[in-house]
Amino acid sequence: MGDPTTLRRLYGRSKGRPLRHGQSALLEELLPALSVPDEGPVDSRLLFGDDRPLHFEIGFGAGEHLAYRADLLPDHGFIGAEPFLNGVVGALGHLRDKHLANVRLHMGDALDVLERLPDGSLRFVYLLHPDPWPKARHAKRRMVNDGPLDLIRAKMGSGGEFRLGTDDPVYCRWSMMVMRRRRDFEWLAESAKDFLVRPGGWPETRYEAKARREGREVWYFRYRAL
Ligand SMILES: C[S@@+](CC[C@H](N)C(=O)[O-])C[C@H]1O[C@@H](n2cnc3c(N)ncnc32)[C@H](O)[C@@H]1O
Repeated sequence: MGDPTTLRRLYGRSKGRPLRHGQSALLEELLPALSVPDEGPVDSRLLFGDDRPLHFEIGFGAGEHLAYRADLLPDHGFIGAEPFLNGVVGALGHLRDKHLANVRLHMGDALDVLERLPDGSLRFVYLLHPDPWPKARHAKRRMVNDGPLDLIRAKMGSGGEFRLGTDDPVYCRWSMMVMRRRRDFEWLAESAKDFLVRPGGWPETRYEAKARREGREVWYFRYRAL
């Protein structure tokens, strides 16, 4: 895989506020039952007991989008990766409240799980508000780079959809530039509205709501894997 500098250096903090008692219990009881195994190949059969369309969310934050999509498509399987402990706890709360049985989580780097999935196995990949790494000298750490994108594309089947959202104008321009060079993804926008207005089935995350409150614009990109 190319571009090794991008890998394993993508995220900074993984701990934040101390956990309350109920949250620690969620982590101790629910997380082990829903976790992707730490090693070895993983596929739909291993994770969900059958062959079903798979979705993967990179950096799910507090898990609102993951839980919404999993609730909408109960026959599909959802895998979410997020290294931030408080985010994982938030997601576990959503999964418990919505009684979702079709989600598996990895508390850590998304790339570690992506690598272990069969090629061509993902129907959807979501990357919402990735860490912007705004300084030019950190640009190699952005998830939208050829190294991670090669891996993401390899794990998607042709016709699969890659959704990318950002509120960061630098990241927006960067992504358009990187994605335009790629011959293995087709941008599914026909008019400006398609990337300025949140598409149906794409719920607002807490992060996005905050961006809007603070007066930032949000851009929505949908790409088809060719
Ligand atoms: C700005 S937050 C956005 C969270 C969420 N997607 C949302 O829209 O609310 C970016 C998230 O990506 C996570 N992240 C960064 N690098 C990652 C990686 N390599 N694998 C998985 N998650 C990652 C961070 O921990 C952080 O929670």
